[in-house]
Amino acid sequence: MSGRKRVGVLISGRGSNLSALIEACKSDLYPAEIVSVISNRPNAPGLEHARKAGIEATCVDHTGYGTREDFEAALDAALRTASVELVANAGFMRILTEFFVSRWRDRQLNIHPSLLPAFKGLDTHERALEAGVAISGATVHFVRTEMDSGPIIAQAAVPVMVDDTPDSLAARVLEAEHKLYPHALALVASGAVRIEDERVVFDRASAPEAALFWPPLEVPSS
Ligand code: GRF
Repeated sequence: MSGRKRVGVLISGRGSNLSALIEACKSDLYPAEIVSVISNRPNAPGLEHARKAGIEATCVDHTGYGTREDFEAALDAALRTASVELVANAGFMRILTEFFVSRWRDRQLNIHPSLLPAFKGLDTHERALEAGVAISGATVHFVRTEMDSGPIIAQAAVPVMVDDTPDSLAARVLEAEHKLYPHALALVASGAVRIEDERVVFDRASAPEAALFWPPLEVPSS
């Protein structure tokens, strides 16, 4: 496919969402290609996933810069050198300031493991379990300076089970993330979404007939 959007992926660690995006990009029909992977941590396992897939992977180590702005300027320069058009944060654990966010406004995505605006920040799954929600999930959104905020592109919902631990819930949500992120990136890269009044607008497919009910509508017989 010609005219694929050039994507830079920012990571800090494991890189399983990066791997899901790399996998999606293998299809000729996918509207984006990953041209650069940048980690702020030198030993992020995700860097190796990228290299194995033949993608340029570099580290811009935040500890090597005196100020956040210096770090962000280096990040920005690396993305521009690779002629990146869209930035996808995938487990990128640095807070980005106005300096970087404004330069990539409406061209930078993030994935967060909750149904935003609920449970922003860290320890998401612990807090979802504490709150006793029956449904959790994941969100892909455009990045704004306020953490885990910005126009929502797509969400996936998963049930919370009575015996869930933060780890088991995280695993269920992560499985959904791996489908959600490639889907959301494709929506943006193909030009299917636009932002109006800080909300994402696109020609939605018709809604499924049933909502997700959890627990299910059938009451178990006693
Ligand atoms: C994911 O749960 C993502 O939603 C969050 O950080 C985690 C990164 O995991 N922002 P991975 O590095 O993609 O495996």
